Amino acid sequence: MKRRRVIISGASGLVGSALSTYLLNAGYDVVRLVRRAALDADEVRWSPGSGQIDAAIVSGSYAVVNLSGHNIASLWTKRTKELIRVSRISATRTLSEAISAAPEPPQVYISASAVGYYGDRGEARCTEETSCGEGFLAQVCRAWEATAAVDGPTRVVNFRTGLVLSLQGGLLAKMLPAFRCCLGGPLGDGSQYMSWIDLHDLVRAIHFVLDAEAISGPINAAAPNPVTNEEFTRTLSRILDRPAVFRVPEFLLRALPGNMGAEVFLAGVRAIPEKLLKSEFKFEHNVLDDCLRDLLKSS
Ligand SMILES: NC(=O)c1ccc[n+]([C@@H]2O[C@H](COP(=O)([O-])OP(=O)(O)OC[C@H]3O[C@@H](n4cnc5c(N)ncnc54)[C@H](OP(=O)(O)O)[C@@H]3O)[C@@H](O)[C@H]2O)c1
Repeated sequence: MKRRRVIISGASGLVGSALSTYLLNAGYDVVRLVRRAALDADEVRWSPGSGQIDAAIVSGSYAVVNLSGHNIASLWTKRTKELIRVSRISATRTLSEAISAAPEPPQVYISASAVGYYGDRGEARCTEETSCGEGFLAQVCRAWEATAAVDGPTRVVNFRTGLVLSLQGGLLAKMLPAFRCCLGGPLGDGSQYMSWIDLHDLVRAIHFVLDAEAISGPINAAAPNPVTNEEFTRTLSRILDRPAVFRVPEFLLRALPGNMGAEVFLAGVRAIPEKLLKSEFKFEHNVLDDCLRDLLKSS
């Protein structure tokens, strides 16, 4: 049987590397779009900034997965914010246009988004039906998702992803050294909800959605049990067996440039993955305690 070709952009990143390995092991042909010269047989060069992509690689593929974007954890100067926005929109547009123009379009186009779509929502539960929130991240997510629309039969799924938990990268890997040195603590008053997902579950969810024909449009890619920042901090501190009493004062976070503190560290989103649950996707890690214990037992 012919192997199905999946094209991945942002394949060198935290999610993209794990996804590439997972899909290769599952028997897919993986093509990684790279912005530098291609070095391996499975790499193809593209230039998302100038809209250049090899159209022949998209046509006839089974799926396209778009994970490109400048990291949002970089300090939010004016220039960085523009890079965060433009890198996502230009990569997504390049892929959407190639899919729309393909003589043999892919079955499915999965494009990243984030739970930041909902803005700061306090304790309210956010399902995929919840409206877009306010702020820079919400506006970026809205434009990002709109740019992923395509002409033709390809099913489009926008992954509104929560905080991805992994020791290989992302926020948890950055926080761990401080927590291990007993320098961890809640952010502000700690009441803000954090929607999180284990990296392995995220990759499994992407694989699941490749063939889940009933799923389209936005989906919340976050575990079913979001926690407050206070609870996150307590859980991590208990598992590491280290105190975490160094609360980061709200005024310090609010002093970060570009409103980054308010949007990245203090805004709360309690996202519920209603569509994944209804489609009977099974999370391996539903509960934060189990997830962190499993991640940390190998460290
Ligand atoms: N990790 C999380 O907690 C999280 C949460 C919510 C949403 N997301 C979203 O999910 C996607 C994947 O996340 P990730 O954690 O894997 O991100 P990541 O590790 O930062 O990787 C993103 C990849 O995007 C490409 N990239 C970087 N700067 C770029 C630019 N200026 N223009 C175009 N491409 C650029 C790079 O790949 P190449 O160099 O190979 O092109 C990079 O490896 C991102 O869009 C992210 O915003 C992540």
